[in-house]
Amino acid sequence: MYSDKVMDHFQNPRNMGKIEDADLIGEVGNPTCGDIMKIYMNIDDEEKITDIKFNTFGCGAAVATSSMVTELVMNKTLDEAEEISNEEIAESLDGLPPAKMHCSNLAADAVKDAIEKYRDPEKQSGAGHVDHA
Ligand code: FES
Ligand code: FES
Repeated sequence: MYSDKVMDHFQNPRNMGKIEDADLIGEVGNPTCGDIMKIYMNIDDEEKITDIKFNTFGCGAAVATSSMVTELVMNKTLDEAEEISNEEIAESLDGLPPAKMHCSNLAADAVKDAIEKYRDPEKQSGAGHVDHA
């Protein structure tokens, strides 16, 4: 059911963990299932991502997509990272089963949440939402 790439990223997740004193932190949660995704990023003076880590309480597909997202946005600017779509993430993993497509939203939305909070400090508090069951 899963591609080799998904299995690889699930079994050997890249950039899993936490960055202490991260420049940006994003968090999304799905209140229905309780899955949570946290993303930590450091950036340089040009807003280029120099370090990224993730932590998730989600399924294997969520782990694999987050791992892939961290590789896709590393060394990108925040403007570029913001454009990442869940289709792009799924394609980079050679596809995801349709029932698991929503899991890739967690990672993409966590990156967007981090960038949004960084640009608008008023949104600093509270986790974002993923709207699906
Ligand atoms: Fe929880 Fe999809 S079932 S995020
Ligand atoms: Fe909930 Fe995949 S993140 S089922």
